[in-house]
Amino acid sequence: MNEKLLQELEALKQEDYGTPYGAVYAPLDKEAFKEIEKIADQLKPTLLLLVGIGGSNMGTLAVVQALRGLWYHEKMAAFYTADTIDADSMGSLIHAFEKELKQGGTCILCIVTKSGTTTETVLNGSVFLEILKKYKKDYERYVVTITDEGSPLWDISDKYHRIAIPKQVGGRYSVFTAVGLLPLMLLGIDVESFCRGAAHVREICLNEDLDTNPAVQRALNLYNHYVNGYVIHDLFLFSPDLLMLGNWYKQLIGESLGKSVEVGITPTVSLGTVDLHSVVQLYLGGPHNRITTFISVTEESEDLTVPKNDLSGLIPGLAGTSVTSVKRAILQGVIDAYAAEKRPYMHLLLKEKNPFSLGGCMMLCMIETILLARLFNINAFDQPAVELYKDMARKRMGQ
Ligand code: PA5
Repeated sequence: MNEKLLQELEALKQEDYGTPYGAVYAPLDKEAFKEIEKIADQLKPTLLLLVGIGGSNMGTLAVVQALRGLWYHEKMAAFYTADTIDADSMGSLIHAFEKELKQGGTCILCIVTKSGTTTETVLNGSVFLEILKKYKKDYERYVVTITDEGSPLWDISDKYHRIAIPKQVGGRYSVFTAVGLLPLMLLGIDVESFCRGAAHVREICLNEDLDTNPAVQRALNLYNHYVNGYVIHDLFLFSPDLLMLGNWYKQLIGESLGKSVEVGITPTVSLGTVDLHSVVQLYLGGPHNRITTFISVTEESEDLTVPKNDLSGLIPGLAGTSVTSVKRAILQGVIDAYAAEKRPYMHLLLKEKNPFSLGGCMMLCMIETILLARLFNINAFDQPAVELYKDMARKRMGQ
């Protein structure tokens, strides 16, 4: 097993895009960074609409949600994403997009699709392109496409801003390429720090001392539990703003490791403290088939004190305490209960919710997933079943 891991770490050290392992080199690629920056400088959105799905938008959504929160929308450009297709939700998005254009705002349409042929993305892109044309004569200036060089989208994009995705870097591993970096840059997020965090963790996780390498240790723990029947990995997030990060990880694990009927860790995402009142009965009382990673933030940027009144008085000791300390006590209580019930868990602590920590966390997840795939002897980088559904759907549409 150690031999396999060492071989994989060696492959991950590659500093170019010659193979899919180049995904973990992306945050070190200064040339690509400059090219992305050059394009970002020409686009100053008041509203950014990211059209893309799966690996083409989830990494960006994870970072934006973690840094901006669920509801806080000041200071940065308004941000929307069009991924699935649904006439009702498209209607409200169209309304927001048109409203901004009518008010003279700068709407940037950022279309991301590696293949350049994903039905949802092409459909959504075409709808919003048409709206842009209605309001802007020079609409081409407001469109940026991010796709594989030579894809069908690439071929029609010479009139737009366009950026190539390194050919060998797969969708779910592409957050450190233009796929994630351009939209994040357009939203004013400190992408340089995001990449620095990733590069820092990359170095730690490529360390050949297997006993101290966190990606190796996490991969081994997940693998050893899997072979003993712990086939579900639950990411238990103690911050609502990290929910999209959980969804990004779910895709990473689901598509990278679900490769045959015999193999596949099932990823689930739970939210603290909400799911303590929902599925924790199953987690603590049900079958022993789940390993959990708790994720929490050590230094919360804001804290509140619980006021003293008749309501807070209902719980002795609550008034005057900080909201964060209550949350920590609950998390610790949950961890104690997991230990008491012999439910396996790991705990990942993000120092802060900032670009550096997020970059590091995403890099850790990517490397641990690639190592896990090696332990399972499967290809971490393909997704034949996803391609199958895409083909079948195209056939249904008469293509
Ligand atoms: O990770 C993957 O490869 C997939 O989830 C893709 O990102 C997703 O299917 C979207 O594909 P595309 O970027 O080609 O539109």
